[in-house]
Amino acid sequence: MVRIGSDWKHAAALLMRGALVALPTETVYGLAGRSDDPTVLKRIYAAKNRPGNNPLILHCSDLDMVQEVAHLDGEALLLAEAFWPGPLTMLLPRREGVLDEACAGLPRVAVRIPDSKLFRAVIAAVDVPLAAPSANMSGYVSPTRAEHVLAGMGNRVDHILDGGPCEAGIESTIVGWDANGVGEVYRLGALTLQDLESQTQYAWPLHRPDAHQPEAPGALPHHYAPHTPVCLELPQPGDAWVTWSARAAEWSGEPGIRHHRISSTGDLAEAARNLYAALIELDGSGVKRICVEAFPETGLGAALRERVQRAAARPHNSSAA
Ligand code: TXA
Ligand code: MG
Repeated sequence: MVRIGSDWKHAAALLMRGALVALPTETVYGLAGRSDDPTVLKRIYAAKNRPGNNPLILHCSDLDMVQEVAHLDGEALLLAEAFWPGPLTMLLPRREGVLDEACAGLPRVAVRIPDSKLFRAVIAAVDVPLAAPSANMSGYVSPTRAEHVLAGMGNRVDHILDGGPCEAGIESTIVGWDANGVGEVYRLGALTLQDLESQTQYAWPLHRPDAHQPEAPGALPHHYAPHTPVCLELPQPGDAWVTWSARAAEWSGEPGIRHHRISSTGDLAEAARNLYAALIELDGSGVKRICVEAFPETGLGAALRERVQRAAARPHNSSAA
């Protein structure tokens, strides 16, 4: 039986011995394991039912640890200094010694320093980067509270470190550089395009997948989805209506529609903090569909919009996770 605790030293001792421990980051809960042990990495993929070609993120406690696994210089170093610790993941040339299982054999490894003192203390104690995908079954919504991990994969982890709800509530932004050294965004996330642009003075394009290369499963359209259908339409009786704007918060309601506010004031940071928790809670509530108010196209809205679109793209009758 999995145990939930709040003692980070105990979590670190377990990780050192090769256990899988769910840990809070500022974005979402991660399923962590030591990145220098191929058996541990294989167990992470198996626990999540994650395809082996979808690489993991290595979480480091400081820049020195990053330099041990990746080449960090130029614009990447500039971004590291501006945004780490924080919700930014960078795809960097890997150093020798990084295991193929960590980066699915690719030439680049995904790295970030999370803005969670608890998690950084654990990494520093284990003294090797921790590989940590989001602590959900592959394809499902990422957990932002310890109880989500327990409900979603409690029998597949050795321990859960409860650090309370995650501050940001959606995953990190992932960036990389093309062969010409031009930066591109691989995944929108908690760090906005405007944040990136404020440092580099150019507009960051979204990465266009190479038609000849199979796309990482993490980038497939139906991802981050609850089992209940998600839609961007107005709700009908039997549906849930998830809103964030001040205008929608005042909606007086129609019979049979379950109104769930993730912000009442149009605060997108608050909405981001609450969106996944709302999807997970409503998923178990028996509503027919989860309808979500449209988010703006800029700032944090862009990442939230993308997540909901992916959740809505899920083939509704499929049991794929
Ligand atoms: O906020 C986050 O990033 C959370 C917390 C736990 O840190 N982690 C997270 O990990 O979202 P995960 O595994 O759920 O998503 C990582 C994404 C995947 O879509 C994977 O395909 C992509 O990062 N990725 C990792 N390494 C890559 C690489 N070398 N090239 C391209 N994509 C990569
Ligand atoms: Mg994930």
